[in-house]
Amino acid sequence: MELDVKAPATIETPRLILRRPAAGDAAAMFSRYASDPAVTRYLGWATHQAVDDTRAFLSFSDAEWERWPAGPYLICSRAGGELLGGTGLGFETPQRASTGYVLARDAWGQGYATETLQAIVKPARRAGVQRLYALCHPDHRPSRRVLEKCDFQLEGTLRRHSEFPNLRRGVAVDVLCYVSILGD
Ligand SMILES: CC(C)(COP(=O)(O)OP(=O)(O)OC[C@H]1O[C@@H](n2cnc3c(N)ncnc32)[C@H](O)[C@@H]1OP(=O)(O)O)[C@@H](O)C(=O)NCCC(=O)NCCS
Repeated sequence: MELDVKAPATIETPRLILRRPAAGDAAAMFSRYASDPAVTRYLGWATHQAVDDTRAFLSFSDAEWERWPAGPYLICSRAGGELLGGTGLGFETPQRASTGYVLARDAWGQGYATETLQAIVKPARRAGVQRLYALCHPDHRPSRRVLEKCDFQLEGTLRRHSEFPNLRRGVAVDVLCYVSILGD
């Protein structure tokens, strides 16, 4: 297996373009999804209060892309180029990465998260990821369904593992860990 290949900055699917974020994306990310409490409810990061919060994320994104074979991606419509959401690979070691997905409210229920997760797996494998996992709040049925549709296996419950700051700040709760093993 070829290891440590830089993931492409752009990934195309039938309906979507996933691309590395750029500095000029902050305002659209903020208004489309990062500032919407309904969208961020089950996420591990606090709802953005100002576009500077989104700019800080973009600095983090650049650092991730510098250090690792990949980092965050934006999800855009192939038809009109509209920003729909975000996803990415969060490398922890050269072989282990997490993933996730977030969509603007008007983009829910159209299969975009499933299409996004399916598209992330191949570049992850090519970049050397052997364990690709996602954490999910146990109550978050749509996200669990997306992971199951993409053949991620429920590995177990991580006890008192993660804070969901938009549900209850400062308290770590149990989370479900779903995994896809990409190595041999
Ligand atoms: C969760 C989220 C990513 C789902 O995106 P999406 O594009 O609507 O997902 P998809 O359309 O690909 O698939 C959703 C699946 O969940 C199902 N679903 C929706 N609501 C459900 C519910 N209450 N219970 C069970 N399944 C449900 C859908 O029917 C669909 O499954 P199906 O294709 O078998 O019918 C989207 O709602 C979102 O961005 N939410 C906010 C951010 C977030 O919570 N991200 C995930 C963090 S773990």
